[in-house]
Amino acid sequence: ALVTFSVGTACASDTLAEIQKRGSLRVGMEPGYMPFELTNQKGEIIGFDVDVARRMAKAMKVELELVSTAWDGIIPALLTNKFDIIMSGMTLTQERNLTVNFAEPYILIGQSILLRKELAGEVHSYKDLKDPKYTIASKLGTTGEQATKRMIGEAKYISYETEQEGVMELVNGKIDAFIYDLPFNAIAISQKGAGKLVHLDEPFTKEPLAWAIRKGDPDFLNWLNNFMQQIKYDGVYDKIYTKWFKD
Ligand code: ARG
Repeated sequence: ALVTFSVGTACASDTLAEIQKRGSLRVGMEPGYMPFELTNQKGEIIGFDVDVARRMAKAMKVELELVSTAWDGIIPALLTNKFDIIMSGMTLTQERNLTVNFAEPYILIGQSILLRKELAGEVHSYKDLKDPKYTIASKLGTTGEQATKRMIGEAKYISYETEQEGVMELVNGKIDAFIYDLPFNAIAISQKGAGKLVHLDEPFTKEPLAWAIRKGDPDFLNWLNNFMQQIKYDGVYDKIYTKWFKD
């Protein structure tokens, strides 16, 4: 009997082959999220994710192209093929995983709290913020925003488009707390918070960060996971980690 297969719309893609053919790896990220991706004085994008992306391109024997993209539209941009992969400190959530694939997580982080110093005596954890008298903020479309709405829903909530804005408003006393990924908050307080902010640095969520790619591309996913294993075994990952987290 003659068996026919319909290809349909969900046919497998081969991003790895496209990258080879093009001669470049296009990485989508939104700078401003230190230490993972930030813009330096010269206007270059640097950070943990950038260093890993550079090693990745080298292993693929192609050039690296960083595609700066607003956080809010980063998944749609991946899905419409503006770049090959998101390497942008993205938390692997079950909801996002319905639309994209994730490689094995590369780090575990959590949400922490930057607090107006005056509140240090009365607020010791996220639980103390569950009160409409407090105004708290996070960044639009992030897991910080989701955690705030889910776990501290009693407080007044404000959403900012950039994490820098959130920290500035907190420093200026416009809001009481800024909820965001711990590694960012740890750097933000040392840069902007001296004498004005307190960091409650006991993370109250558990969030794996992972690279995201389009679905239906098992070859690319396999390459990425094996690359990750390799850099974890051979010390490259540790070197990059130490550079950005222990300096
Ligand atoms: N981990 C958080 C999330 O996935 C925030 C990541 C923000 N990353 C960035 N490059 N701005 O929602």
